[in-house]
Amino acid sequence: MYEWWQRGVVYQIYPRSFQDSNGDGIGDLPGIISRLDYLVDLGIDAVWICPIYPSPMADFGYDISDYRNVDPQFGTLADLDRLIAELHRRNLKLILDFVPNHTSSEHPWFQASRRSRHDPKRDWYIWRDAKDDGQPPNNWLSEFGGSAWTWDEDTRQFYYHAFLAQQPDLNWRNPRVREAMFDVMRFWLARGVDGYRVDAIHLLVENESLPDNPPNPDWHAGMSPARRLLRMHTADLPDTHALIPEMRKIADEFTARVLIGEASVPVERLKHYYGQALEGFQLPFNFHLMRTPFEALPIASLIRRYEAALPPGGWPNWVLGNHDRSRLRSRLGGAAQSRLAAVLLLTLRGTPTLYYGEEIGMGDVVVESDAVRDPWERNVPGLGLGRDPCRTPMRWSAAAGAGFTSGVPWLPIGGNLDERNVATQRDDPSSFLSLYRNLLALRRAEPALHVGEYREVWVDEQCLVYERTQDARRLLVALNFSDTSCPLPAQEPLRACLSTHAPVRTAEQKSTLLPFEGIILEPCN
Ligand code: GLC
Ligand code: CA
Repeated sequence: MYEWWQRGVVYQIYPRSFQDSNGDGIGDLPGIISRLDYLVDLGIDAVWICPIYPSPMADFGYDISDYRNVDPQFGTLADLDRLIAELHRRNLKLILDFVPNHTSSEHPWFQASRRSRHDPKRDWYIWRDAKDDGQPPNNWLSEFGGSAWTWDEDTRQFYYHAFLAQQPDLNWRNPRVREAMFDVMRFWLARGVDGYRVDAIHLLVENESLPDNPPNPDWHAGMSPARRLLRMHTADLPDTHALIPEMRKIADEFTARVLIGEASVPVERLKHYYGQALEGFQLPFNFHLMRTPFEALPIASLIRRYEAALPPGGWPNWVLGNHDRSRLRSRLGGAAQSRLAAVLLLTLRGTPTLYYGEEIGMGDVVVESDAVRDPWERNVPGLGLGRDPCRTPMRWSAAAGAGFTSGVPWLPIGGNLDERNVATQRDDPSSFLSLYRNLLALRRAEPALHVGEYREVWVDEQCLVYERTQDARRLLVALNFSDTSCPLPAQEPLRACLSTHAPVRTAEQKSTLLPFEGIILEPCN
């Protein structure tokens, strides 16, 4: 009665950095295929791969010049078909990235659109006249720095781009654009892809009359320049919400497919992405754990707010890291905290998404300024906005190139290689990898964990305890967010099934939580 995307765990792969198969220093599809047994052993259920389509790589694949092919850097369509088959043979699902908001400026649609004001594709993008003084039509800002409008000298108009000038926004008010993009969705679903993660969905449609966005009173100099303005007229608009059920209808032309929406909106707004009758995305991403202080009280209150904000029957989901955010170990300040975070992510109610490399405790890698690749860091340097540090190659072994490449990796491998790699951790019961493997195995074995109810049992400044129940089965999860031990706040005798503090003291009675300990317990009887 539960769907695979409710029971399962999603593993996110940044394809440039997972496994290189031909020595060019860039990960590729044959590389991913060669590592599928690792994913089976790890115990995940679905793989989401960031864009692999032909792209000039201005935003590393999020600028797509052909929606129906594979970029030669990543392989061929035949490789993609083989990936689908090899995943399905192992009972794993494949989720691709769908980028509806913008194309590459090199996409033939945009090339046609910019050719003349009368081209039939002109209205596929958002073109506007300059103001009388030659300035852009309004004050809207690009996420990656500067105005969101770029002047086209040949046709003497501005075009709108929520991201880079090389990523012009499509005009979703145009029914031809919608049909063309729905056909793109069908193209991969028909090849056997199990669903999409839909990129930047909250930015799909803008206010047509182009009012200025108001200033953000909370903006300060350390923040992204784009946040100077509130996105009142450019994000999270009702016209965007109305398009989501249309996308869902396309997915529902096929069986058992999922749509995951990348909507960066407050908890209370997520319902617009589910749809009131759940006719929208099955899983609008919940990014709020990444924005909440890693402390017991704020996290307990986030869980309450999120659960309360879900529309009736809406399935929850949780994200702790991705290709746009600092890695857990660096963000939370240490190995102990990130191990605790793993227990949290994999025991909350709802589908977890796990970012590659977190399972071996990778941290952000320092990328020297002359090695920076991310366009955001290049445009807006020095504020820590750059995403290269969390996109560095997966570390398979302590060998040169980390087993990722025999060539020169496109981003540096980073330090601590001896300890932070798959080969070293595989047989060490106290390693990160063992913790993740055990957690994933327990989550899969226990319906209470993958589909059970959630109830908060106890929270104070140090620790959070909740229970997960399914029928008669009851498990307790106790998390100590502090650096001192504390008594386990529980009345009944409990024994540990799993702890961050290896070796796992199975069957041992527990009455104390160690510093930063996360533990899954069952009643003794
Ligand atoms: C999303 C992606 C990000 C990308 C942007 C533009 O936020 O996660 O990586 O740069 O959209 O497509
Ligand atoms: Ca390669």
